[in-house]
Amino acid sequence: MNRLFEKMLSRRDDFPSLKQEINGYPLAYFDGPGGTQVPQSVINAVSDYYYTSNANFHGNFITSRRTDQVVEGTRKKIAAFLGADGPENISYGHNMTTLNFSLSRAFGSWLNPGDEIVITQLDHEANRGPWLALRENGIVVREVALLPDGLLDYNDFENKINEKTRLVAMGYSSNVTGTINNVPLVRKMTYKTGAMLLVDAVHYVPHFPLDVTALGVDFLLCSAYKFYGPHIGILYSNGENLNRLPTFNLRTQLQHAPYCIETGTLNHAAIAGVNAAIDYIETFGEGDSARSRMVSAMKEINRYEDAVYKNIFKKLKTIETLTIIGPSDIKVKKAPTISFDIAGINPSDVCNYLGEQGICAWNGHFYGIRPTEIFGYLEKGGLTRVGVSVYNTMEEVDRLIAAVTTLISGRQGPLRD
Ligand SMILES: Cc1ncc(COP(=O)(O)O)c(C=O)c1O
Repeated sequence: MNRLFEKMLSRRDDFPSLKQEINGYPLAYFDGPGGTQVPQSVINAVSDYYYTSNANFHGNFITSRRTDQVVEGTRKKIAAFLGADGPENISYGHNMTTLNFSLSRAFGSWLNPGDEIVITQLDHEANRGPWLALRENGIVVREVALLPDGLLDYNDFENKINEKTRLVAMGYSSNVTGTINNVPLVRKMTYKTGAMLLVDAVHYVPHFPLDVTALGVDFLLCSAYKFYGPHIGILYSNGENLNRLPTFNLRTQLQHAPYCIETGTLNHAAIAGVNAAIDYIETFGEGDSARSRMVSAMKEINRYEDAVYKNIFKKLKTIETLTIIGPSDIKVKKAPTISFDIAGINPSDVCNYLGEQGICAWNGHFYGIRPTEIFGYLEKGGLTRVGVSVYNTMEEVDRLIAAVTTLISGRQGPLRD
């Protein structure tokens, strides 16, 4: 384990933004769930694109051809990273939310009134709102219950998936609790009735290796800015699924997958950055092929993040007035994300206090507004959330815990009613 810690510490310098000081404190960035910092190589790739390749695509001149290479080459890289068959399975979008809205609009014109969609109470609103909007088309949207321990109710899934279910839209990992959902189990349920399965893997992909082909999902979404890349959304679609949907687009654009959901000009510079982000991740791994290095890198990253996360979890657990939301057993496999409540102190005051000491953490509902509501914290100002990324250190954990403890002992900030 010591060697792993040394190795990861030596990589922290790859992130120039972490060299900043805030009020004399080094920046400790615990908001990976909101978006990670980027390494120098990603910044270079974005800027190099503008130096050497800036153009629109499919033109008959050099910079346009380079742009084609960037856009298509990155599709291949993402396919390898996610375990997809090839670039034809990978579409780009502004972000996950926009891609999901495009999908839901297409499903809306494809499905019939009375058809059913299943969503969950644990999901980020980006995987609920687009499907709930289809109620206006007469589609029945059913919601699977979230249990008090932060896990989904799989009996409820069983009850809610039936022959009328056309789609199940669920998250892989919660950006509020870090819970990992049993996607393979739900896939089995959907196979029985013929429903499609769409997975929001935005919070899963930064922390675990993924094999979309083995998982057998129909659609999977993620966002590169959560795994050390620029702000861009990615859609994986299996086989002919995207071609079956009446996606909204212009007659001027390619009408088949993966292009038919990509409207207008893409963010080419950001795509160049995504390529560099996956290359960066690959450097943490070992193996004979790019895919094997990516998988081994994600395992290595997870091993490290999990150790740092468990350290935070154990220390926060000892604080009497602090409640961790979601699975309370440290042995439950989770993403390295912890949301908590401190009795009597508003989460906004917690994060302001931490922020003054250069410790970045988010407060509120994190767009996981439904789980925050179900857990009973929405009206109380939500929760405080910390997430672990590859660059977080044990020393930062000590600073975080010391700051939280001092805040509680001094009862800084306005009290809740
Ligand atoms: C689990 C989860 N799903 C979806 C989203 C939305 O992603 P995007 O910002 O790319 O639309 C987020 C963003 O925080 C998220 O954490």
